[in-house]
Amino acid sequence: MPPLTPVLTDNWDAERSWTLDSYAERGGYDALDVAFGMAPDEVVAAVKDAGLRGRGGAGFPTGMKWGFIPQDPSAPGGDKPKYLVVNADESEPGTCKDIPLMMASPHTLVEGVILASYAIRAHHAFIYVRGEVLHVVRRLQRAVQEAYLAGHLGRDIHGSGYDLDLVVHAGAGAYICGEETALLDSLEGRRGQPRLRPPFPAVAGLYASPTVINNVESIASVPAIIRNGADWFASLGTEKSKGFVIYSLSGHVRNPGQYEAPLGITLRELIDLAGGIREGHRLKFWTPGGSSTPLLTEEHLDVPLDYESVGGAGSMLGTRALQIFDETVSVVRCVLRWTEFYKHESCGKCTPCREGTWWLVQTLARLDAGQGEEGDIEKLLDLCDNILGRSFCALGDGATSPITSAIRYFRDEFEAAMHTPTSVSFPPAASTAW
Ligand code: NAI
Ligand code: SF4
Repeated sequence: MPPLTPVLTDNWDAERSWTLDSYAERGGYDALDVAFGMAPDEVVAAVKDAGLRGRGGAGFPTGMKWGFIPQDPSAPGGDKPKYLVVNADESEPGTCKDIPLMMASPHTLVEGVILASYAIRAHHAFIYVRGEVLHVVRRLQRAVQEAYLAGHLGRDIHGSGYDLDLVVHAGAGAYICGEETALLDSLEGRRGQPRLRPPFPAVAGLYASPTVINNVESIASVPAIIRNGADWFASLGTEKSKGFVIYSLSGHVRNPGQYEAPLGITLRELIDLAGGIREGHRLKFWTPGGSSTPLLTEEHLDVPLDYESVGGAGSMLGTRALQIFDETVSVVRCVLRWTEFYKHESCGKCTPCREGTWWLVQTLARLDAGQGEEGDIEKLLDLCDNILGRSFCALGDGATSPITSAIRYFRDEFEAAMHTPTSVSFPPAASTAW
């Protein structure tokens, strides 16, 4: 079994791990002096060499994204201020890695923000936090205050001549504000709705200026890269998916929680680490990266959890939100719940998603109640076909993933649901559950 690699999580069990004193005891903020001894472009090169890929779900190379920020004043946007924005709007169903990280070790994120801002030559940075998690907002605000008082933020940081201001901004609690351009609209004070891309934020982002937007875990990975070197990071994981990540296991495992391990570990190994599936039951289906990624089943237990292999299995690694469901769960009911979420969170800007998610819920609810009509399964697939690739942003596409994959693997269950309510069929009589 591959070892766990506690890097981001190494201080989570320390007493008052969220304080500056606790973080400093473990070498916290030491990476700043290493970075200030390098040119900003060398910091970008180190992150590129490490092979860090975006941990928000898409896996876009982080160093490459930083390299897109125009630094030549004669290039488009090159004469404008640069911004760093941390996407801390974690909302993907099942995803619970950024919020525990910010609660347990907010200074890891703050140190990463300073390093990333220095690398792209930004003097203003923002952490945009999901509105519902007021406890996280408070913890981050306190950490930022501590960092200012200790001279890690503000003017002439560590005597380097580099200045940075960092603002913690609370959103208002909308899933769509995790989409990077909707987040920017929200941060600018407008209703959060996605913008057309291109231009990508790297060219025209916050206040139409070059902006890097990175996920919490991506930015929090940077201090360890600067401290230990790009080669150390690149030696972990697989050839194309390098480093370690936080996997969040939830559902029917004995010990749900966050497990930090190299990319490429399998679900079978993670379930072992989590104490196994709950006693007397077996795995039925799971999500590799939240409900926006197609479901997988028992046959995929040994797929390495890296971007390439999960893609090859017909899904996406996404946010590594491993939701585990055993045989007591109705896949139809489960998919209905997720689709209700997407319908509720659809921002309404484009027709396929706004109207389509409404129709999907109507059809699924009918099936769940055992009142399906002939052709409902085809209707679901047709609706998904008209949403996928025709929506303005990834929310619409993501809404179709659980439905099409569930029908692929459990069509018989959808057919059975046509005339028998899932509340009657589940949990199955053979199950020892409940
Ligand atoms: P994307 O692949 O379109 O973009 C990824 C990043 O790369 C963005 O920052 C984008 O600006 C940048 N980028 C891509 N091409 C570029 C180019 N040519 N020039 C400059 N920059 C470029 O993915 P997207 O739509 O931003 O995110 C989708 C992912 O978000 C999904 O894979 C899903 O797993 C994840 N997600 C995560 C959630 C969470 O709570 N963490 C919630 C919902 C979705
Ligand atoms: Fe809004 Fe959905 Fe269209 Fe995205 S796909 S812009 S969330 S309506």
